[in-house]
Amino acid sequence: MSQPLLQLALDHTSLQDAMQDVTRLHPYVDIIEAGTILCLCEGINAVRELRAQCPEKIIVADWKVADAGETLARQALGAGANWMTIICAAPLATIEKGHQVAQSLGGEIQIELFGHWTLDDARDWYRCGVRQAIYHRGRDAQASGQQWGDEDLARMKDLSDIGLELSVTGGLTPNDLPLFKQINVKSFIAGRALSQASDSVAVASEFKQKIAQIWGK
Ligand code: 5RP
Ligand code: MG
Repeated sequence: MSQPLLQLALDHTSLQDAMQDVTRLHPYVDIIEAGTILCLCEGINAVRELRAQCPEKIIVADWKVADAGETLARQALGAGANWMTIICAAPLATIEKGHQVAQSLGGEIQIELFGHWTLDDARDWYRCGVRQAIYHRGRDAQASGQQWGDEDLARMKDLSDIGLELSVTGGLTPNDLPLFKQINVKSFIAGRALSQASDSVAVASEFKQKIAQIWGK
């Protein structure tokens, strides 16, 4: 297993606030995400601004696309994103088109796993050429008490066996990481644990230390 990366999710409602966190945290993270909330509030400019401020980082457009995969992948990658998310409920045609465009521009599609999806769907995504998925505990599910459990871990292993690289997210804190020690994780995505911390640099460092302790060689 390789050592998981750390992704900063920016789900601010203001680009100015998001960029303050980026200025503070970019040296401590590997990937920066223009979050769904930020992009809905501030538009594609959020992606452009992140690319301009962080030319060396992997940038994700977390758009959770459900249709128009080709057009939106062209827009996201054209604005500077390396990766764009498509929701698991999207038709296979949307995923195929998005993947073809992303690949032709040197980027990748990540499938956002929310709600209903099956391992047969995952095999179809893999057959289309997609290589990444995000295992997600939604904000609202978390707020209504949903915990990580053995069923999540078993499904993550099944997805890895299909060949998909997995990122994990959904209200994660450094203390949650040991739960995933048997899982081959590409990146842990953290939003509120960083943006709402009184010392966000300390929390980012704690994520990194835990990752090194658990997955370091
Ligand atoms: C929600 C998202 C968030 O970006 C992701 O869940 C990370 O944020 P947090 O750590 O605050 O849950 O995509 O749909
Ligand atoms: Mg997100």
